[in-house]
Amino acid sequence: MSGVFERDSKYLLQSLPSRTRLHITRGRGARVWDSSGREYLDFFSGIAVNNVGHCHPRVVEAVKKQAETLMHTSLLYYIDPPVRLAEKLAEITPRSISRFFFANSGAEAVEGAVKLAKKYAYKNRKSASHVIALDLSFHGRTALALTLTGQHKYKHGLGAFANYPGVVHVASPYCYRCPLGLDYPRCGVKCAEALEDAINRRTPGEATAFIAEPIQGEGGIITPPVEYFKKVNEVCGRYGVLFICDEVQTGFGRTGRLFAAEHYGLEPDLMTMAKALGGGLPIGAIGVSEEVASAIDAGDHFSTFGGNPVACAAASAAIEAVLDEMLHERAEKLGRMLMDGLKEVQEELGLIGDVRGKGLMVGVELVKDRETKEPADKEAAKAAEHALREGVIIGVGGVYKNVLRLQPPLVIDENDVNRVVETIERSIRSLSKPGGT
Ligand SMILES: Cc1ncc(COP(=O)(O)O)c(C=O)c1O
Repeated sequence: MSGVFERDSKYLLQSLPSRTRLHITRGRGARVWDSSGREYLDFFSGIAVNNVGHCHPRVVEAVKKQAETLMHTSLLYYIDPPVRLAEKLAEITPRSISRFFFANSGAEAVEGAVKLAKKYAYKNRKSASHVIALDLSFHGRTALALTLTGQHKYKHGLGAFANYPGVVHVASPYCYRCPLGLDYPRCGVKCAEALEDAINRRTPGEATAFIAEPIQGEGGIITPPVEYFKKVNEVCGRYGVLFICDEVQTGFGRTGRLFAAEHYGLEPDLMTMAKALGGGLPIGAIGVSEEVASAIDAGDHFSTFGGNPVACAAASAAIEAVLDEMLHERAEKLGRMLMDGLKEVQEELGLIGDVRGKGLMVGVELVKDRETKEPADKEAAKAAEHALREGVIIGVGGVYKNVLRLQPPLVIDENDVNRVVETIERSIRSLSKPGGT
């Protein structure tokens, strides 16, 4: 049936962010096809989800097999797929994480992680239930996750829905636009002091948890310097504040390591995962330490679909694909090549203010002027439109909507990287031409 755009606008709630007018009907590896049969190189992976590529044969096979055997029971009963998945996660997550709860999305994982952290604090007789989050962060769109999100643009018109009590925000380690007006590395990573300051001055002197993305994805691929997490981790330890590492966007090889926590030597108390976990199927997970697990009692948390066998089978297959194909190492190598190529383009084109990221999580921040750093948001949208006309899908994001987000499936190859660097160069050059599109 045709007319998907019209039918979509008639029957779907039009609550979604700005969308790309592209009718995708098929995907394979790093490519998708539209309804006219035109092929596109996908450099956004359905928002950093398809790390193993679209319709990875191993994931498809696992889904088929599981769907034919058992599709749903709930975890009121004992079933194999979530146990198998938890065993795999225990092997690949940081050492501190050893037990898992399965949810259905990233927001749900975040919401649940904070709930479990609060239960731990309650059991340990902590009086305060404050949670500290970062400015410019994104943690999802349910009430608590949206409150934790440090960007106002997602909260307009929602009043108290996005104002859950006891959430405090502190400065983000956004070096390109330092909130303290300092320069790295001379700054001594002063922004990391904001956490201790917040615990002492904006909470009753103790807080339940600090939640942070190791690299802020929706905020614009904001990559903290390595000292940042060393410092905040030390503060968390000293004050007995649980560290929740939100790996929803950075997990499963995306940043060149299985988890971005590894870049920073982090051993979090809780960890949230979703997006790439399911190889394309919806599933989220909360990982916790033994100590946090010991504070959780039967009946504390549950979800009807949590641990769904089909989603768990897909996730186990996706993890096996990442490990067997060493996709994290591939992301590291190709990510370096992508960044090098983009940095060369940056030397020629003043519109590119910054190129940053890790592995295949790369941001290209566009500015009207390198001195003032005025965000070039319209230009970013136009560059993405130009790329689409050339058959390349890229994302646009960042707190100012001026960051090109390059987060392809990790199965891309060198030719794909070269093609995207050239496409971005042409897209940005076209903007400087009179009447450029
Ligand atoms: C770091 C992070 N946490 C949580 C979420 C929310 O995930 P979901 O959209 O699956 O609810 C996202 C989504 O972009 C995210 O990037």
